[in-house]
Amino acid sequence: MTSLPAAPLRVALVGAGPVGTAVALLLRARDHQIVSVSSRTSSSAEAAARRLDAPACTLGEIPAVDLVLIGVPHAAVADVAAELPGMDAVVVHFAGSAGIQPLAAAPFARARCALHPVQACPDVDTAVARLPGSAWGVTCSEGAREWAHVLIEQDLYGVPLDVAEDDRVLWHAAAVTTSNGIAALMALGEEMLASIGVEAPSRVLGPIAAGTVANAGRAERAALALTGPVVRREIEVVRQHAGAVAARSPHLLNGYVHTINTIVAAALLSGRIGPEDQEALQDALQTG
Ligand SMILES: NC(=O)c1ccc[n+]([C@@H]2O[C@H](COP(=O)([O-])OP(=O)(O)OC[C@H]3O[C@@H](n4cnc5c(N)ncnc54)[C@H](OP(=O)(O)O)[C@@H]3O)[C@@H](O)[C@H]2O)c1
Repeated sequence: MTSLPAAPLRVALVGAGPVGTAVALLLRARDHQIVSVSSRTSSSAEAAARRLDAPACTLGEIPAVDLVLIGVPHAAVADVAAELPGMDAVVVHFAGSAGIQPLAAAPFARARCALHPVQACPDVDTAVARLPGSAWGVTCSEGAREWAHVLIEQDLYGVPLDVAEDDRVLWHAAAVTTSNGIAALMALGEEMLASIGVEAPSRVLGPIAAGTVANAGRAERAALALTGPVVRREIEVVRQHAGAVAARSPHLLNGYVHTINTIVAAALLSGRIGPEDQEALQDALQTG
């Protein structure tokens, strides 16, 4: 801990995407100094550099800093780490399913940290607004864990959680299942409404989706927030739904059946329905 750099940190950003740029902006707001911005293209580097009021440069031109933020896609992290100039810095990446292994090639790094924000960041402004309060998966080289926790808690206003190197893939799978799953389920519902002529289906489904996420977030476990025909054991309603989807939107039937099976599995695991209900619901899906 004592050998790791203290605030204010001199920071280099590599990869001018939403997450890296937002983290750099949050650090800058806490009086850390962003001293360089690099990216694959000079146009991205220069745009982010303007926002960060820092010079743009190539990877090879990065000056000696305390902290290097590698904000590039997972597949590019190892190559970028290997191309960094050798320096006594903490090197960080943000990819979810990788631990510190892809940072092994960073020459002379003082410490290596994989810090994954569990948040959907489509653009810089959204990321700046939503990273505070988000959970971060933390995997660090020997002695850097506490330093990373302090950075996340005090400078990024996040919630650090330690994740073992070998657990990173499942950690990331959970985040993707939740975040992308919610959007994909809304897309399925929107298609059903569009097929009966509803013109702005997201206006119908947005509020119920937001309400459901809020209910699930407040519940001890999300399955306890399930409402609707599965947990009410309304077998005939499920049969009617399956029949209507098959007749009116057959291209959505596969997704619909998978979704109901996922709901049934969650209800069963949490004890809200029993095995006999599961059997009846699955029969309804097939005969609907
Ligand atoms: N976005 C999210 O919701 C989210 C959430 C959690 C974690 N993450 C992780 O955070 C990291 C950054 O994600 P992001 O969505 O902010 O950005 P991104 O769109 O994945 O990429 C950021 C930038 O990396 C640069 N880049 C791509 N390949 C490169 C290479 N081979 N060498 C150097 N630069 C390269 C690109 O720069 P140019 O524009 O110059 O081509 C791109 O703009 C990823 O590891 C991602 O998995 C993302």
